[in-house]
Amino acid sequence: MKKSNFVLYALTLLVFLSCQRAPSGSKTDLSVPWRFHSGDDPAWIAASFDDSKWEQINPTDIWEHQGYKNLDGFAWYRIRVAIPHSLTDDAVIKDSLQIRLGKIDDYDQVFLNGELIGENGINIAVKTEPRPDFFKGHSCWELDRRYVLAVNDPRIHWDQENVIAVRAYDQGGAGGMFSKPFDIGMVDLPDQIKFDFSQGGFAFEGDSLTSKQFAITNVSKKENFKGMLTIRAARCDNGNQLFKQQTALNITPDTRTVFTVNIKKDLAVPAILYFSFIEINSGREVSEQLEMPYILTPKPGKAPRINGASVFGVRPWSPFLYKVAATGEPPLIYSAENLPEGLHLHADDGLITGLVSKKGDYKVKLKVTNKVGTDEREFTIKCGDLISLTPPMGWNSWNVWGLSVSDKKVRQAADAFVSSGLINHGWTYINIDDGWEDKHDKNGNILTNYKFPNMKEMCNYIHSLGLKVGIYSSPGPRTCGGYEGSYTFEEKDAQHYADWGIDYLKYDWCSYGGIAPNPSDYQLKFPYREMQKYIRKVKRDIHYSLCQYGMGDVWKWGNEVDGNSWRTTGDIEDSWESLSGIGFSQSQCSPFSAPGRWNDPDMLVVGQLGWGPKLHYTRLTPNEQYTHMSLWALLAAPLLIGCDLTQMDAFTLSLLTNDEVLAINQDPLGKQASQVFKSDVCQIWGRDLADGSKAIGLFNLSEDPQSVDVKLDDPGLKGRWMMRDVWPQKDLGLVQTHFSMNVPPHGARLLVLRKD
Ligand code: GLA
Repeated sequence: MKKSNFVLYALTLLVFLSCQRAPSGSKTDLSVPWRFHSGDDPAWIAASFDDSKWEQINPTDIWEHQGYKNLDGFAWYRIRVAIPHSLTDDAVIKDSLQIRLGKIDDYDQVFLNGELIGENGINIAVKTEPRPDFFKGHSCWELDRRYVLAVNDPRIHWDQENVIAVRAYDQGGAGGMFSKPFDIGMVDLPDQIKFDFSQGGFAFEGDSLTSKQFAITNVSKKENFKGMLTIRAARCDNGNQLFKQQTALNITPDTRTVFTVNIKKDLAVPAILYFSFIEINSGREVSEQLEMPYILTPKPGKAPRINGASVFGVRPWSPFLYKVAATGEPPLIYSAENLPEGLHLHADDGLITGLVSKKGDYKVKLKVTNKVGTDEREFTIKCGDLISLTPPMGWNSWNVWGLSVSDKKVRQAADAFVSSGLINHGWTYINIDDGWEDKHDKNGNILTNYKFPNMKEMCNYIHSLGLKVGIYSSPGPRTCGGYEGSYTFEEKDAQHYADWGIDYLKYDWCSYGGIAPNPSDYQLKFPYREMQKYIRKVKRDIHYSLCQYGMGDVWKWGNEVDGNSWRTTGDIEDSWESLSGIGFSQSQCSPFSAPGRWNDPDMLVVGQLGWGPKLHYTRLTPNEQYTHMSLWALLAAPLLIGCDLTQMDAFTLSLLTNDEVLAINQDPLGKQASQVFKSDVCQIWGRDLADGSKAIGLFNLSEDPQSVDVKLDDPGLKGRWMMRDVWPQKDLGLVQTHFSMNVPPHGARLLVLRKD
């Protein structure tokens, strides 16, 4: 238990009701301490080598978490273990043994009793000399390390001591063994028969969940499996079964068969689909489970409601463009009182345009009316030096299209902001990432490539919708995608961006590493200062987004180079490891976030993604996506959607249009949440809001449901609070001293406590 100045918690961890995983069969556990040594020495291959003086290490977590913070390069793991012949007794597949070693970041060679048996996830079936350059090429950190040997392989010493030695190489960042499973056992039915859900997301028709495609793969080249496939769905809250269907199957060798399951479920109810295949002869089962999307965000009502930030920063004489975000039955009529001189509000679409010449804070009253009613809201325009007073909200092309981005795809995204209604919830920026550039011509003008025939015209089009445009470049000669960067052309590039009408620049370190290979503090800042000098010269407000993956603790000096946001980490991916690794490590950056100066833990990985051109549905479960949005809201993170907006399903849209969740992100106090409690399975993050309320996120990092008991002991939390469940937008009643809440696996509960 840990005391914090925000909340004091007693945490009771209870496992409740259904949604559990089945236990595994007979295996020798390897998730026990191994011997560990940094460095590299061929003598460490030998079974006879004495490693008893080596440190011990837990193989299921990266070495940085275990006292080796700055270790990159080589390190070795060794373990001595018996392989009992009895493992074969109840095996369905009698001829193959497997050694499973979780995952290894980035590369590995695995030796059994002095002989190489695997390398970077690939089995080495016969005696082979280790490849000296096994650690070069694309990182293998995400691959499962499962090495299979025939039972009569002489490298296995049955019923004797065996030595497994693993040579790992980390090319930077997190390093070494991690994840699960770690064991030795016979190859089993689940290793041969696989359920594959990567066909795409759940199908929706309007707001209803209708079906899900999945495949069954038999990876065995020779075995045929007959049995019964059962699919059932059960609610997570009370375990009640929603439906069940059974089919007899004969799964032939080396095949992949696609099936569709039709869904019957209330959209708001969290439920799980359970898939099971029971093989007739052995009675052995392969099972998987899949969370079904559930929608908590209420639909917008017919009455008008003004959304979006309540404060907006602009520099004197910069073109002003602000769309009043509002929902309600159309037509909506917009008006404003006390607009500063020089600004004009368009009554039919809520666009505010013009120029403000005088510095100052202008308190404007916005009004939106329709035939059902009126909503009013105070809106402060701060004309001064600072822009981006709340985190930017928009779309970025990278996580979906990668380098295949084009004018057409960007315009489609802008159109989708309007047609899907995202624009009515405060979503504003349409950002082109890498892949638009051609060369600089002989006069130093940056040219666009064939995919962007007319950048200015495209920007005009996006502005005409009430949206803003972002662009991407690098301070180096080349971008990360190999396109032309801004090195030595900074001034001209900045001017070009302004001429086109750019409102946001993501400036990505990339090949600047070649110019400053071991950058000093000064060198880290220099290229960012250089570009900002020119960005500030142009007559436009351009959000300046630093992208250099957190080097030199950029959160401590990003404001010094006048950045409006800065990436605090490497690139995010749509996996729980990536999401939770990034999201839950942001507390150290919290004190440095403020209006106009945001920590950026990278873009959203919900919906249809792919880093282009081929797309897939996010691999995050629905609960993980609730965690993603809740945590990014608490972190006051820039919210940049990274998916194909033309194929957005009802679930993804519901995640992105919850105005109470977005209001936490856009809170004008601009105070980023920090971690206030951490146990092995749960974390609690809290943030102060401008009106004196507290936003709290309860996160379950485990694979089982947990009940979290929160105690409000801090002097700042004395008194009675009205507790709001933010996702369903419902008051839960008064709390005074403590409360308990169920949190689903890898899921979140987002709460706001308001003074009673
Ligand atoms: C880096 C950045 C990404 C993206 C690519 C483009 O990897 O971190 O966000 O901009 O470059 O090449």
